[in-house]
Amino acid sequence: MSTDEQILGRSSRDDLRAIIAMSNTDIDEAIHVVEDHAPAIFTWDYEKGRRPALNKLYEKAKHAQWNGETDLDWSIEVDQEYFAQVISMMRQQQMDAAGLDLSHTPFANWGEKEWLQHAMENQNWSLSQFMHGEQGALVCTAKIVETVPWIDAKYYASTQVMDEARHVEVFAKYLDTKLNGHYPINAHLRMLLDDIIADSRWDMTYLGMQIMVEGLALAAFGLAMNTTPDPLLKQLLRYVMSDEARHVAFGVLTLKEFYEDLTSAELLERQEFAFEAAVRMRDRFLQQEVWDRMGVDVKEAVKLFDTPPEVKNQDPFQQLLFSKIVPNCKKLGLLDANDGWLRKRFDTLGVTQFEDWVDTGEEYLEMDAVTADRLAAEGA
Ligand SMILES: [Fe+2]
Ligand SMILES: [Fe+2]
Repeated sequence: MSTDEQILGRSSRDDLRAIIAMSNTDIDEAIHVVEDHAPAIFTWDYEKGRRPALNKLYEKAKHAQWNGETDLDWSIEVDQEYFAQVISMMRQQQMDAAGLDLSHTPFANWGEKEWLQHAMENQNWSLSQFMHGEQGALVCTAKIVETVPWIDAKYYASTQVMDEARHVEVFAKYLDTKLNGHYPINAHLRMLLDDIIADSRWDMTYLGMQIMVEGLALAAFGLAMNTTPDPLLKQLLRYVMSDEARHVAFGVLTLKEFYEDLTSAELLERQEFAFEAAVRMRDRFLQQEVWDRMGVDVKEAVKLFDTPPEVKNQDPFQQLLFSKIVPNCKKLGLLDANDGWLRKRFDTLGVTQFEDWVDTGEEYLEMDAVTADRLAAEGA
């Protein structure tokens, strides 16, 4: 059994100094190479539908394809400055409510202009990380097509490759044509994606990507969709989420079957990987690159604005991001295996409360925005 220090590479999970010390220094890197260490697997068993739930998902995916160029209304004007103003005002109110005193800090001289710029950088950063995460999903799913031994899973994964290409495409287009800047990939997100790709065991790609990264993305996209005042981004996220719900279901349905035959020791390795992924995803929310670009000392800014761990673990926004991951981990048996090893870790993150929320095995049927829109258009 590994210690938390061995899993995370730092002595304390909430050590801000160690988290910030990890930053992306290859900002001009154009190509990033990761060894994937995995054998490509053929199967000669072509019986379609041997796994009915995966077959149903594959058939659904074939009908739910959409076109990022034509199904989204790119003629919608996006007034980034106005949206940033709305966000900046909300932030100001939060700071006032918290009684934050910024005199004698690097922010003492910041006025409306700087806070507005900061809000725009925030948007650029968030959408950039969504885009990089989508490319991670594209590469992971291509790997799954190669490495999974079941034909129904290869078929389904191939549809997800197309979905992820579309997601990278629409986020890149939104960034290029509607916002005013890009960010390179966050170091914590890159480390997580590298770890997922580098693992030789095919089920680890599913756990890292479909359960952890996409589980968090599904919750984060939902929060962004409900709060953004931009109708184009709302539409884009609604369509992306419609695909993501299938992707998470793919992970749940596949791993449910595979984990039934694993030993406790093998399950523990999966639990440790899930915990590591959860912490890496939390680390990236410090948005350290935004402070850096705004020309302020990152350590001071994070110390000032990052909620202390004991409070952060009670932050409803941070917690909600885990609202898909936790019930799915429970369904897979990861929460309670090995005397509740992962449950204890999730308890300290304050997220176990979601364990009985609906898991994502079937949710994709309700979230199918593409079919719903087509039926509405036919009826009109
Ligand atoms: Fe995606
Ligand atoms: Fe996805």
